[in-house]
Amino acid sequence: MKLFDVYPLYDVTPVSAKGIEVTDEQGQSYLDFYGGHAVISIGHSHPHYVNRMTEQLQKMAFYSNSIKNPLQVELGEKLGSASDCKGYQLFMCSSGAEANENALKMASFHTGKSKVIAFKNSFHGRTSAAVVATDNPKIVAPLNAQQEVDFLPLNDFEAFEKCISKGAHCAVILEAIQGVGGLDEPTTDFYQFIAKKCEEYEVVLIADEVQSGFGRSGKFFAFQHHGIQPDIISIAKGMGNGFPVGGVLLHQKFKPWYGQLGTTFGGNHLACMATLSVLEVLEKENLLDNAAILETYFKEKASEIPSIKKLKGRGLMLGLEFDFEVSDLRKKLIYNQHMFTGGSANKNLLRFLPALNITKEQIDLFFEGLKRELA
Ligand SMILES: Cc1ncc(COP(=O)(O)O)c(C=O)c1O
Repeated sequence: MKLFDVYPLYDVTPVSAKGIEVTDEQGQSYLDFYGGHAVISIGHSHPHYVNRMTEQLQKMAFYSNSIKNPLQVELGEKLGSASDCKGYQLFMCSSGAEANENALKMASFHTGKSKVIAFKNSFHGRTSAAVVATDNPKIVAPLNAQQEVDFLPLNDFEAFEKCISKGAHCAVILEAIQGVGGLDEPTTDFYQFIAKKCEEYEVVLIADEVQSGFGRSGKFFAFQHHGIQPDIISIAKGMGNGFPVGGVLLHQKFKPWYGQLGTTFGGNHLACMATLSVLEVLEKENLLDNAAILETYFKEKASEIPSIKKLKGRGLMLGLEFDFEVSDLRKKLIYNQHMFTGGSANKNLLRFLPALNITKEQIDLFFEGLKRELA
């Protein structure tokens, strides 16, 4: 059987990886400054992660959500304190889209309404409700398009007030820092305005932290840079360091009933262990601090390169905006300099999303390679 050909592929076949280094079948190593779309949070094959996952695999990989799973309870506790979101309830699933799907569904159950407010350039995933809240009509099938979403510009207070005051919406969903869209971020004033208006009009505020969460921005969640508290927080990507796991954190005001949400795979033993070991490494290696410190270092180094027009993002969720399209540059970085980087909907933006335990020396290697390609 042939593969369903939806991915344009780079001609690289990695067979092993360690830390930020990925090695292909010819033994050529590459520096991974992209983490497979912000997934690798603590480095490839981190020894603690490998040990914990191996031990768990030897004990038990999976059983369904119809039996007790103390690992889920332990994870809820640990995640609550690590993220400073103790008062929330955790529901686990297996991907970012599924997390947002459940978040939007809960907002609709809670309010009895169905319209959603999302933002221009957003990306929330490819399942039914998540994809309509994604600002990319190309990937919305007619089946999905029945749901109504208003796309508003970031930082437009007037448009937001006009829209939400109609009283028709169940949710506002926003990425604390836009990922696929190109690292735009609302101002703190706009954030706080949204939170206030959601409260006033009883609309559920969903922070999509699928990409920006788990320490990537230098705080556990990126919305925490703005002093707000969303009603629902969706998580995935860096949460499992490569193991497919996602989840939603739901405020106490959401009262569950049996069967309201459910999944076969979500929250299985291996998924819990992947997330627990990520949390353990984030704490033990102080990786939130590392992300915050290296943001400053990265930005200093980037400011020495004249063709970089703008620096975007926070922590280790960073972007370099050039005055030309970067797709050729990204190819050259892979094939000549052996470095993985990311693109975005903003074609001039190069994304940098390495593991959070990257070092200054590895950032130096990135800039040396980049300068050689730009010369
Ligand atoms: C902010 C955001 N939300 C949701 C998703 C969808 O996640 P997944 O691909 O795991 O379904 C992504 C994926 O890039 C994302 O960046």
